[in-house]
Amino acid sequence: MSQFEIDPESIATPPERIAKVLEDPGFGRYFTDHMASATYTPDAGWQHLVIEQTKPFAMHPSAGVLHYGQEIFEGLKAYRHDDGSVWLFRPGRNAERFANSATRMAMAPLPPDLFVDAVTRLVDLDRDWVPAGSNEQSLYIRPFEIASEIFLGVRESHEYRFMVIASPVGPYYPDPVWLWATPTYTRAASGGTGAAKCGGNYAASLIAADEAHEHGCQQVLWLDGAEHRWIEECGTMNILFVTRDGELITPDLRGTILDGITRDSLLRLAPRHGLTPVERQIDIHEVSTRIASGEITEALACGTAAVVVPVVGFRRPGPTADADDVTLPVAHATPGPKTLALREHLLDIQYGRAEDPFGWTVRV
Ligand SMILES: Cc1ncc(COP(=O)(O)O)c(C=O)c1O
Repeated sequence: MSQFEIDPESIATPPERIAKVLEDPGFGRYFTDHMASATYTPDAGWQHLVIEQTKPFAMHPSAGVLHYGQEIFEGLKAYRHDDGSVWLFRPGRNAERFANSATRMAMAPLPPDLFVDAVTRLVDLDRDWVPAGSNEQSLYIRPFEIASEIFLGVRESHEYRFMVIASPVGPYYPDPVWLWATPTYTRAASGGTGAAKCGGNYAASLIAADEAHEHGCQQVLWLDGAEHRWIEECGTMNILFVTRDGELITPDLRGTILDGITRDSLLRLAPRHGLTPVERQIDIHEVSTRIASGEITEALACGTAAVVVPVVGFRRPGPTADADDVTLPVAHATPGPKTLALREHLLDIQYGRAEDPFGWTVRV
């Protein structure tokens, strides 16, 4: 039984209009009819659990989120299987990460069962908005939490608002990507917020994305904040490397990168593709040398929105200020077979076309 009450006043979009949107949803352009919402105060805890019409809402101009940036979010998807049923992928992991992000940002953690309840209830109600699985379409779900107390002053807020909205989407990066190892910016530092999914991390990263585009790359490759040498992750994805001798290597979790759910899923699928998962520090020089020698045969990036994207090469600044960028294509800049097989396997589980040995999918 859901703890979220549905506002009976809400109006549903006509089926013909939804069908039109689902023909070409793009990414994050259209929103479903409903949103979930809850509020928190220290005395009452989480209350006013409702699902209502998606609409703008009023906020006092002094609300903490507008000044001191206490905001966290999540991203997960609902998939339609061929028989018409609708499924979530590992929502419990998003719920746990959401609570961990809240704790890091000194916000009120939402109990994971309430998170899953809100997401499930909303998707159930708006299930007509979940596209058919063809062309890798799905319903992207965005839970978030903001500091809403009316107060000015640098301290943690005493009131929070939790909300969930949803948007039908197609693929995020339809093509393979080049990554720019930015020499200018870093995303996270030891003791910072790199492992939390907070809006501030993304705000700080946008300028580096511009730099990547100027160098002909679609995404940034983040290196560590202290030595600018250790590979961390990409803008909205974790990164992995396939080696000739059968390893799937990814940077380990040391508090500066996001504990990606797709990353974890690929590491667990790896043995089924003849790959040994390895989580360790890996530096940009090792990657350069081993790409050049052919020992690294594939690179891939992964995340909920992007699924699994082949990384076909890296660019970094040349040795002197006036030198050209160093360009490192991975395996002749073509997507590798292990990358494509892992991608296919994950999608097949998500869309119900392959067995789900780990019990990752949850029916709505
Ligand atoms: C910075 C960052 N790293 C990694 C990921 C991948 O995480 P997940 O696989 O849980 O979507 C994301 C996407 O949410 C991200 O924003």
